[in-house]
Amino acid sequence: MQLDVVTLFPQWFEWFAEQRHVTNAIEQGNQLRALDLREHTPLSGGQVDDTPFGGGAGMVLRVDVMEAALRGFYGVDPVELPRQRRVIALTPGGRVLDEQLVNELAAEPAVTLLCGRYEGFDERIVQHFCSDAVSIGRYVIAGGELAAMVVCDAILRKQPGALGDADSAVEESFSAALEGDPEYPHYTRPAEFRDWAVPDVLLSGHHEEIRQWRRARSRERGAASGQAPLS
Ligand code: ADE
Repeated sequence: MQLDVVTLFPQWFEWFAEQRHVTNAIEQGNQLRALDLREHTPLSGGQVDDTPFGGGAGMVLRVDVMEAALRGFYGVDPVELPRQRRVIALTPGGRVLDEQLVNELAAEPAVTLLCGRYEGFDERIVQHFCSDAVSIGRYVIAGGELAAMVVCDAILRKQPGALGDADSAVEESFSAALEGDPEYPHYTRPAEFRDWAVPDVLLSGHHEEIRQWRRARSRERGAASGQAPLS
């Protein structure tokens, strides 16, 4: 897949791009680009934002600046872009990212993530240039960059060959193998530590009993989290 991030801080993504699962995904033919929102700004001094009409605190990313950036990067009128690729505004009020959305995005051939800053986007950016608005949770962080990294991480690790065998994503939290429940608890050596015993069943060597124990713990965690399992 081609994964683009439009950001005022492209250098933040240099560290991210060096992480093993990301380099693996890129070696497998995926692409990750951090595109500088300022690169095509039509305004003097690299200006990208302005004060909100109607008053209020903070600054808002300008629609003309985002239009110039997207037109510059993709060579089309950005209103056409959502028909060609998923274009996602990262914003606290968007659709909350979950395993289902991650799977949906991981299967796309091309995704563009737009990072807001300050008070966020001029609403016309979201309405006319985007296919979706996505939130990483119901809280506010200082900008979309860390949210974009969360989304990139979650979808790149789903690409074939991104994870080593040891990190297999087959039986992990929220996977179909666990019917959408969180993962069961893990233990490793030492088997005895203070008086915190490892459950006997895990030391028993009975594969079917271990499987049943893990499934039960996973279900318990799912019920305790209050989240509905995947339908
Ligand atoms: N930008 C600021 N807060 C955010 C959030 N929770 N999700 C996505 N983008 C954001």
